Amino acid sequence: MTIPTPEIPREVVIVPGTDVDDAWERYQPFEPLHFQQDILNPMSDAELERVMEALAVRPGMRLLDIACGHGEMLLRFAQRYRIDAIGLDESPWVIVRAAQRTARRRLVGTVRWWLGSGTEAPRGPFDVVTCIGASWIWHGFAGTVAAVGDRVRPGGRVAVGDLRARDDVDGPPGILTRRDQIAVIEAAGLVPIGEFVSADASWTAYQQRILANAEAYALATPGDPLRDRRQMAAEWLDDHRRDRERLVWSVWVAERPR
Ligand SMILES: C[S@@+](CC[C@H](N)C(=O)[O-])C[C@H]1O[C@@H](n2cnc3c(N)ncnc32)[C@H](O)[C@@H]1O
Repeated sequence: MTIPTPEIPREVVIVPGTDVDDAWERYQPFEPLHFQQDILNPMSDAELERVMEALAVRPGMRLLDIACGHGEMLLRFAQRYRIDAIGLDESPWVIVRAAQRTARRRLVGTVRWWLGSGTEAPRGPFDVVTCIGASWIWHGFAGTVAAVGDRVRPGGRVAVGDLRARDDVDGPPGILTRRDQIAVIEAAGLVPIGEFVSADASWTAYQQRILANAEAYALATPGDPLRDRRQMAAEWLDDHRRDRERLVWSVWVAERPR
């Protein structure tokens, strides 16, 4: 059983090899948790703006955002600059929404939406490559830094968003510290520009958005277990609450030297 799926707009590029039916089904559980959100991460508007500023985007640049979600960052760039961007995500739910949102924004730049796995992302090189909040695609921070770093030109910038251990506590085993992350970035041949740490309040606000989304989605069609993900949202929030005691969410921006 599935929730009825919207049509994929013709302008969406489906990356060869993508099993679209499987993707609709696999990403369906996340739809009720995210459907009304712009930013699908524990970042406030202002925090996203700071990351965008650090990426130093200028007119004429080519951008790639891997796991772009609803495409908010690329849409903001395209509202301001004549850029040429690709937003890629494996969830048809979010890619269709990104395409729908594009039609409602006044853009001076171009954004194309690609449906497919991050591992199939085009190689570029691009001026700016980002992956914010999907480091599992490359099995962690190091793989993600390498993947975006491989796709950026000398002088170009990357952004990677992930969890890391808090500075003031021992992180769980296997979780990188800030110092580990800097070492990873440098080992990939990139120069760290800055780390943008989300405030605790931003994380709380994200959790509240998830709960509110799950509630609104469930109430729209009472009694439908596929649409009622309030239990899943509550479990997620418990995980997040536990994580917050030991982890922070941050976005690193780095540059490939010329
Ligand atoms: C936490 S959200 C972040 C979205 C966006 N970067 C943002 O900050 O708003 C993670 C995104 O990764 C996408 N995703 C998960 N696995 C993926 C994969 N293997 N390839 C591409 N996208 C993937 C999900 O569909 C989701 O949109």
